[in-house]
Amino acid sequence: MPTTRQVIALAGVGDLGRYVSEELLASSHFESVILTRGSGQPWFTELGISIHKTDYTVPSILSILDTTHATTLISFINDLTPTYITTHAALLSACRQSATCKRLIPSEWIGDSETYPLKPDYYAKSREPFRQMLKEQKEVEWTLFNIGWLADYFLPKEHTYMKPVPLEFPVDANGWRAHVRGTGDEGQSWTCARDVARAVVELCKANEPPHASDPQNAGGHTTFVYDKLKYGRLDAGTDGGGHGDGMLGLSPKEDIETT
Ligand SMILES: NC(=O)c1ccc[n+]([C@@H]2O[C@H](COP(=O)([O-])OP(=O)(O)OC[C@H]3O[C@@H](n4cnc5c(N)ncnc54)[C@H](OP(=O)(O)O)[C@@H]3O)[C@@H](O)[C@H]2O)c1
Repeated sequence: MPTTRQVIALAGVGDLGRYVSEELLASSHFESVILTRGSGQPWFTELGISIHKTDYTVPSILSILDTTHATTLISFINDLTPTYITTHAALLSACRQSATCKRLIPSEWIGDSETYPLKPDYYAKSREPFRQMLKEQKEVEWTLFNIGWLADYFLPKEHTYMKPVPLEFPVDANGWRAHVRGTGDEGQSWTCARDVARAVVELCKANEPPHASDPQNAGGHTTFVYDKLKYGRLDAGTDGGGHGDGMLGLSPKEDIETT
């Protein structure tokens, strides 16, 4: 049991950040603090995590890092625009100036940055320019978490903190619909949000975290077998065809072969 708990600062905590907050709380090694633009979500207080309001300027972030003695800053800020660069440049600058916080995990959490660094499309104008800033400095250790899709999107909404994204993820677990990406035979990779959170906790314990994206952070690779989903069958839907948005109906029928 460690005698002093390291402080982990979490910026922009929402759905994915909630898993990491819970896993950090469950660990005897860490204490966490949350940076938010507003007053925070009710569950922050329920978990007993201290909340620090910020406008994401360097002085504001630096003051929080230094007063809390944070050693690692993890961002979950969900911003698809170039503003991501400004905000993350401020996070990095604050870490560089901080006396204690020399580790940064920026808000990536999607994709495969080694093979497809510019996918999803918004990465070209947000994540990639910031990756260059990370590479140009040496004072702050950093890690990109690239995890493919979260497996949580296979779950109905009551079983996950992740908000449903029915038009993005190929399976809509709440509306019983699905569509096929590519031929349907291409390999896909997904990881449970809870496992991502546990991996983050392990990384925080490591003395020397990896400095670049680590494909081993991804979940097991598998083939997306679209007609053998565990909870039903892909068919033409009950309305005689597709739904007009490229999605097909999933039938939760008991006589369907499952895998
Ligand atoms: N691999 C996957 O399948 C997958 C799925 C979902 C998300 N992700 C990624 O995981 C990360 C977190 O996503 P999430 O779904 O957990 O996010 P989320 O719940 O939608 O939002 C996280 C928080 O970001 C903060 N935020 C949003 N816009 C901001 C801005 N312009 N400036 C500063 N803060 C802002 C907000 O916090 P405050 O209001 O408290 O400031 C918000 O609660 C993102 O990078 C996202 O792309 C990956």
